[in-house]
Amino acid sequence: MSLSWDEDTAPAAPAAINPAALEGEGTTAEQVARRVNADDKRIINGKTDVNQLVPFKYKWAWDKYLAGCANHWMPQEVNMQRDIELWKNPNGLTDDERRLVKRNLGFFVTADSLAANNIVLGTYRHITAPECRQYLLRQAFEEAIHTHAYQYIVESLGLDEAEIFNAYNEVKSIRDKDEFLIPFIETLTDPAFTTGTVESDQKLLKSLIVFACLMEGLFFYVGFTQILALGRQNKMMGAAEQYQYILRDESMHCNFGIDLINTIKMENPLLWTPAFKEEIKQLFLQAVDLEYAYAEDTMPRGVLGLNATMFKGYLRFIANRRATQIGLETLFDQEENPFPWMSEMIDLKKERNFFETRVIEYQTGGALNWD
Ligand SMILES: [Fe+2]
Ligand SMILES: [Fe+2]
Repeated sequence: MSLSWDEDTAPAAPAAINPAALEGEGTTAEQVARRVNADDKRIINGKTDVNQLVPFKYKWAWDKYLAGCANHWMPQEVNMQRDIELWKNPNGLTDDERRLVKRNLGFFVTADSLAANNIVLGTYRHITAPECRQYLLRQAFEEAIHTHAYQYIVESLGLDEAEIFNAYNEVKSIRDKDEFLIPFIETLTDPAFTTGTVESDQKLLKSLIVFACLMEGLFFYVGFTQILALGRQNKMMGAAEQYQYILRDESMHCNFGIDLINTIKMENPLLWTPAFKEEIKQLFLQAVDLEYAYAEDTMPRGVLGLNATMFKGYLRFIANRRATQIGLETLFDQEENPFPWMSEMIDLKKERNFFETRVIEYQTGGALNWD
């Protein structure tokens, strides 16, 4: 069907639409001037129309959106039968292993809801680049899938839902991590908060750093390591498989956040002051302490060949990596990765494509059978 029509027979066009413009001809100079120019786009405080995805300026954000879609997965695709049998077998796991699984889920079942709310109610409205908004929409759905995955594990194993879902209120090491995060989430979700001054833009940047580098980039890593360590010993294989997919997603979220942070810094160099950098450094140190306390609480006696002390080095190694990714100096001397096997799964140096396998053997939801 042609868009052109005869002036005499065509219905009257609504006042706001110029039929000639629909044909791409006869556009007025004023209309052309109002069209989005990619050079005018900004990550924050932009004035261009956020409803127009193209012309692209931030191609890296669009590419990550495409990569996120290519990695789509759903929790029910993972068979939990062996996990269920192991959990129900009184000799299947040690008490310390059970404690570790429950504390681990206790953190994650609410963490991804915090993450989703932070994106949808906070970050999204402050970001004025539509390519980045497109990625954030994908990310928000992935956070919902993660919450679904943790719920699916809790339900599959028949765990006490009230105990697990309230852990963030009732278990100190989990509560402390969340209490560290909440003020930064509240900054962005406060309906009265807007950007546009150095002070408010720094607040936004600080929240983005806390969220990407310290929550997704650090607070998740003790937990991921624990469940993947179980999987390496052929225990809780279904849960471990889900955590691998979540880890892959989170690695992308963290990388997107770092690209976002670095682009905001580049576009707004006045924000990156010595005092601001010092403040960020202190937040990194505080986050490492909180995550270490969580490691001690979840592994009081050492379990699976892991103990809290090993995590001290690991957390310092990751914190150094995150710091340098956003242009800060390393925070700790010569820290190396004490878990080279984790490096194979995450490969911090090649995070962008560390996980290239796909689920090739799984039962779809509904085909699972247990009781
Ligand atoms: Fe997540
Ligand atoms: Fe995430």
